[in-house]
Amino acid sequence: MDRIELVKAKSFKGTFYPTPDKSISHRAVIFSSLSKGKSIIKNFLRAEDTISTMNAFRELGVDIQDTGDEIIVNGNGIYGLKEPYNVIDCGNSGTTIRMLSGVLSGNPFFSVLTGDESLRTRPMGRVITPLRQMGAEIMARSEDRYPPVAIKGRRLNAIRYTMPVASAQVKSAILLAGLYADGETEIIEPVKSRDHTERMLPSFGAEINVDGLSVRIKGGTELKGTEVHVPGDFSSAAFFIIGALLIKDSDITIMGVGINPTRTGLISALKEMGADIEIYNIRNLSGEPVADIHCKGGAKLKAINITKEKIPALIDEFPILCVAATQAEGITTIRGAEELRVKESDRIKSMATELRKMGAEIEEFDDGLSIMGKRRLKGAFIESYRDHRVAMSLSIAALIADGTTTINNVSSVNISFPGFFEILRRLTL
Ligand code: S3P
Repeated sequence: MDRIELVKAKSFKGTFYPTPDKSISHRAVIFSSLSKGKSIIKNFLRAEDTISTMNAFRELGVDIQDTGDEIIVNGNGIYGLKEPYNVIDCGNSGTTIRMLSGVLSGNPFFSVLTGDESLRTRPMGRVITPLRQMGAEIMARSEDRYPPVAIKGRRLNAIRYTMPVASAQVKSAILLAGLYADGETEIIEPVKSRDHTERMLPSFGAEINVDGLSVRIKGGTELKGTEVHVPGDFSSAAFFIIGALLIKDSDITIMGVGINPTRTGLISALKEMGADIEIYNIRNLSGEPVADIHCKGGAKLKAINITKEKIPALIDEFPILCVAATQAEGITTIRGAEELRVKESDRIKSMATELRKMGAEIEEFDDGLSIMGKRRLKGAFIESYRDHRVAMSLSIAALIADGTTTINNVSSVNISFPGFFEILRRLTL
């Protein structure tokens, strides 16, 4: 049965490395596949989402080998892809389907992208609109709203595009299409989203200029294979950071965690709530800042307000932040977070519904929620909606709840974090 039973934990103790970063692993495979020659990817995340990306490029004719130690990609350049023989299955991965849409729009063949039940409800209009402006022939189910997506690629023209939503997937899709465009493509974001593409793509030879919220890329540049070392995933570390803060006698150190400022909004939020988090040994790994993180349990947390401009830097940490908010003194309000409704599940609804079952008091809005603290949580039968981050966040909630909590559909953790429950077990021994 795809369920786990969890009981209250006494403490979280230990030192460990989190899983490799998912966003950076996707990009490393995509950019290597579009490069001429050999690329080596070290510390690649082997999870369902990133394997979807790897398999997609294999279907597009790229030679990708997993030696067990590293990933070796032998690419044939931006025009080296082959027409796929079959529909490409992107699984559960929004990053795969959106970034591939950008790449395939510039490639002169026919392709169809689809995914699992959840992915087939994720909005695609946000990439189709700008890609069509660039001249792409691209269409999708339900009046171009949802996957499957069909693409007949061709040479594109450069555009200047102001993005209505802050989304690194959309920004990256347009930047990749920009590689196939005549001239310079410019994207302007409403709020800065994660910038892994802008940091990594130049190491493959792309010409990218960043100026505040504007990112420009020069079309027609050939990419050349290189080596990428993937840092630890801050979004995976986040579950343990909050677990340690909420479980009284905890003391943990997480090593080699990516602390890119476009990703670590949760740290600022937790510090504002009064948490004691130490970030030290800051270094650089393949153009990304990395550090070790130490945190202890028992801090008295106070409620905060999270507004729209703060959402992109903690977009994936929304579910676990909701858990922290149940234990903070006062009312925590998160607004401007409507993007969370179109993730792997409707994360506003998922978290409100399931945390209420555990005794939390939550008011739901179209664009967020208010969580009343501090509330004692109790065990319950919990649904995770096959959403990996919901499953992991509610597992942490279970460790501070009285009684037993059963969480349904937990194999979804394999989407981003195989081994999550093993680390959990080790830390609570
Ligand atoms: C990602 C961007 C974000 C994030 C997702 C990964 C990426 O999505 O939530 O988990 O790798 O670019 P959006 O671009 O939809 O905000």
